[in-house]
Amino acid sequence: MKHLIYILLFGIALNINAQNQLVIPPTIDNANINLTLQNGTHSFFNGQSTATMGANGNILGPTLILHKNSNVNINVTNNLGQPTTIHWHGLHISASNDGGPHTVIQPNTTWNPQFTVMNNASTMWYHPHLDEFTDEHVSKGLAGMIIIKDTEEAALNLPRTYGIDDIPVIIQTKDFDANYQIVNHSNSDDTVMVNATVNPQTDVPAQVVRLRLLNGSSQRVFNFGFSGNKTFYQIATDGGLKETPLVLTRLQLAPGERSEILVDLSGMQGQTLQLMSYAAEFSNGIYGATNPGMGAFMQLTNYNPNPLNGSNFNILQLNVVAQTASPITSIPNSLVTLTPLLESNSDQSRTLTLRPVTGGSQQLNGDFTINDVSLDMNTINITIPLNNTEIWTISNNSAISHPFHIHDIQYYIIEYNGSTTIPSYLQGWKDTVLVPSGQGSVKVITKFEDFADDTIPYMYHCHMLNHEDGGMMGQFVVIDSTADTNDAIIQNGFYLFPNPSNNIYMTVSLHNKNEKITAYAIINTLGQIVNYHKIHENEISNIYSFPVFEYSAGTYHIKLFTEKNIYTKKFLIK
Ligand code: C2O
Ligand code: CU
Repeated sequence: MKHLIYILLFGIALNINAQNQLVIPPTIDNANINLTLQNGTHSFFNGQSTATMGANGNILGPTLILHKNSNVNINVTNNLGQPTTIHWHGLHISASNDGGPHTVIQPNTTWNPQFTVMNNASTMWYHPHLDEFTDEHVSKGLAGMIIIKDTEEAALNLPRTYGIDDIPVIIQTKDFDANYQIVNHSNSDDTVMVNATVNPQTDVPAQVVRLRLLNGSSQRVFNFGFSGNKTFYQIATDGGLKETPLVLTRLQLAPGERSEILVDLSGMQGQTLQLMSYAAEFSNGIYGATNPGMGAFMQLTNYNPNPLNGSNFNILQLNVVAQTASPITSIPNSLVTLTPLLESNSDQSRTLTLRPVTGGSQQLNGDFTINDVSLDMNTINITIPLNNTEIWTISNNSAISHPFHIHDIQYYIIEYNGSTTIPSYLQGWKDTVLVPSGQGSVKVITKFEDFADDTIPYMYHCHMLNHEDGGMMGQFVVIDSTADTNDAIIQNGFYLFPNPSNNIYMTVSLHNKNEKITAYAIINTLGQIVNYHKIHENEISNIYSFPVFEYSAGTYHIKLFTEKNIYTKKFLIK
């Protein structure tokens, strides 16, 4: 605690420092978007300068307004002096445009994703995703909101004047050292900020106001509510609008999650209201509760002195002022119709188990695994045929809750802790969900459609950035097996020996010595991919030996992927 003095009053921590005007990030609403990633400085505390990273500015980035079905062309120029990536969290997008850890933007280069916006009206966000550096880059300030608009949302009687009655609220906690510099991978994240403003306040009109809540924190879970327990209405989950507004007094959001809420301030002109986190109500096993693990003996370094844990605190002060010219004054009865995916249409079920590497009292500190392996950038953990509908059970075998995110898709939750009764605030399209601690589990259904890529994987991971950087991440590719008949695939073009084989290894060698093999896939006679392997950077060359002893006798095809071409050839295992 460097700066803020808290007084505990009726269990509510009130902070007595001066309030700062909430900064509303500028918007970019254009088919061509330029983002320049840069180092800068920002004054979080009066008169103190902190080194930061931002897009088109010193901290955070502009809010991008995207329109469903329209094309966007983005230039991301990296002036950070170090590599990074930019991921569009929540967007249904091809793997090459997704901005995951394989799509590195080297210093002084520009990355140019181009895509059609396919998602419904929603609140998404963008942030760096470099392997092992995500927390550092996000903590230093790189993140921004994305607002997607569509005609269905536009037809509803909802507040949508940005910064006036439709407010971006990017909530983060950070740790500052004695020199007011940001410390990443820290559990002393005792400074709360909204849109990079510490102790924020903003004017809001005395009418229905929409808050777009984005938990952009590295680790902290919030239990949102208003002072006086004022009711509010959840209208959107991660992936867009719900069927009907949900009346709430509390709303839990873990890192990576978003929710849009409406709060009716009619008749409240002159009053102030606090958006708070009622973290005193958290049960143990959540980052933000009194104990981050399920038992008090499970220690997270420096967690317990942090005054935010297990106490209620203010996040944003709302000063209610006069109504705008054409105010929204009522909460709609219904929003959109959602068509859930049917379990009966599922092609494949998978279980992913979240576990720490070390057990006991140190289990909260990492490293971490999914299905007992930490991320290996050269291993594809899951291969998914294009258009598969799949049910994934995310099961938590650790003492802390983990927010689980899958790239590319939105999912429905069909089971929560083994029950088909899903908490109402989790009903709707989701891309991140907090999987409860202990033996908690969340079962989701989704469809992998529209985008296939043999070589660039999508990621799934814990969105606690410490855990993500600590290995709680895996990779999947979506493969279009009908592309096997594609003319672009070159028959032969390489030696394969011995063939037929009863050896342990087979070797491939490209005729074109200037091409390099980056990955290979083995396909059986049913067209199923029995193995897919991305070749380790150090081993990339025009020749490669691969193990075949695990394959049963029969005919197979091998596909070799190079930077330019795909080659294929039949082979026989005796
Ligand atoms: Cu918001 Cu893979 O990340
Ligand atoms: Cu985690």
